[in-house]
Order: sequence, then C-alpha cells, then structure tokens
Amino acid sequence: MIKQFFIYKGESSSDLDRAKAAQLSESLNIDAIDNLELLTSEQAAFAFHDEKLLLHLYLDKSLTDLAFDFHDGEVGFRAARVSKSNEVVAKAIGCKPNYRPVVLDATAGMGRDSLIMAALGCNVIMNERNFAIYQLLKDALSHYKQSKDYRALPGSLDLNEADSIKAVLENESFEVIYLDPMFPERKKSALVKKEMRLFKQLAGEDNDADRLFNWAMSQPVKRVVVKRPKGAPILGSSKPSHEIKAKKFRYDVYLVG
Ligand SMILES: C[S@@+](CC[C@H](N)C(=O)[O-])C[C@H]1O[C@@H](n2cnc3c(N)ncnc32)[C@H](O)[C@@H]1O
Repeated sequence: MIKQFFIYKGESSSDLDRAKAAQLSESLNIDAIDNLELLTSEQAAFAFHDEKLLLHLYLDKSLTDLAFDFHDGEVGFRAARVSKSNEVVAKAIGCKPNYRPVVLDATAGMGRDSLIMAALGCNVIMNERNFAIYQLLKDALSHYKQSKDYRALPGSLDLNEADSIKAVLENESFEVIYLDPMFPERKKSALVKKEMRLFKQLAGEDNDADRLFNWAMSQPVKRVVVKRPKGAPILGSSKPSHEIKAKKFRYDVYLVG
C-alpha cells in the first residue's frame, strides 16, 4: 500500500502544470520531486498534465498513473443518456416520476455511481476518506463543474473529504445513504480491473465495511442502499428489505424510515 506522497514537477510538464504542482505542494505541505524513477512501490507522486491532476504509482513493478474524469468512458456515456427505466440504481434509491431523493454517497470512490444519480436528478453529496482518492476526485469534479454537461445535469454533485462513519447527520436533509465499499477480490489479480487494483493500492480493502453499514442503518434516513458484487455476502447482519439484481452486482435495499 502507498504510504508516502510527493508532488512531481519534472521537466516534461508545462509551465502552467509546474505552477499548479508547486501550489498543490504548498497547500498540502507535500515535498516536490523532479524524478519519478526514484519512487518506490510504497510511494506515489501527484502531477498535473494539461492542468488535470493525476497520480503516478507502481502496479506490478511498472510505473503507471491514475486520474479521474467525469466525462470518461462508459459512465460519461450513461450519464448523458440516463433515464429512470434504464438505470437499476434509480429503482434501488427509490426514484419515482416526481420524486428524486437527496443522497449521501458515503463511499464516493471515482464518483461514477454519484454521477449517474445526479444525472437521474438527485442532489448527491459524496464523502471520500482516502486522501489521494479525494484529491483526484476533487480535481475531476472541479473540471466537470466548469463544463456544459454539469450545467445540464438535473441534479447536483458535491464532495467532502470525510470518513462517513464519523459523520453526524442530525440536521441534514439526506433521504438515502448509498454504500459501495471495496470488496476483497477472490479472482486472480490479473483479471481484476487495473483501476480497482490501483484503488486497493491506495485505500486497502475497506475492512470496516460492516461498521460503515451499522453506522448508516442508525442514521435518520429513509433507506440505505448497498451495492454488492454478485454472490457477495450481505453487509452486517440485517436482512435487506429487498434486493435488485443486475448482471455483475446487486443492490441490497434497506427501508429504514
Ligand atoms: C469501491 S469504491 C466506490 C466506487 C464508487 N461507487 C464509484 O462509482 O466510483 C469505495 C470507496 O469508498 C471509500 N470509503 C470506504 N469507506 C469509507 C468511509 N467510511 N468513508 C468515506 N469513504 C469511504 C474508499 O476509500 C473507496 O474510495
């Protein structure tokens, strides 16, 4: 797992990227380096490329990088074409023709599920506790918020750096808590998506997911929704009110209020 972070402001960056890197180094109080080759497998370095934040780190002995982008790939495509009927998450969080819940996504990650919920019309607050994942998501969100796609979203997306287990929701208006903690992967590592493996390098396995679930169930919300890989056991010990199955995963839905 990654234990130490740097900021890279090396030769290959543009002046603007180097200036942004210097700013981040100061605001996060992290040392700057100018040679990525010196990184070990327990170290990672943030850098800017075309003004976007990315993280250089090792995976299987080769240096690679991780960055988030709300416009990227399948999720950006789905968000642009989302409709209540084609997203199982809409059913899971309880969307109705004239009703969209306010959602706390307590395990934000790359923000992909949150983006779909915002595209459905929900106001979504994301909590992310991992320092590096939060920095990448914050940068991706700030770029996305400047785009016409964000302005066209019927819902909204906001982000906190927070451990949800420590959050007190008493005076908040959340109706749904959404959970998608990391799941220990049993398949051969090469088969697991590269992104997920990089995530695990950064954040580990979310071994306290049962505690997070118990926290969610004790909050003043109407429902708790847990995304689980197909075949994975339920979180905690309460049986879900119902489940909604998709091809590779399912939603365990708990009606609590
Ligand atoms: C599997 S990823 C979530 C992926 C996300 N649903 C998406 O669509 O991109 C799990 C994330 O939850 C975060 N996480 C786990 N427990 C958390 C907690 N108690 N508070 C905040 N974030 C948490 C992890 O750091 C990790 O980034």
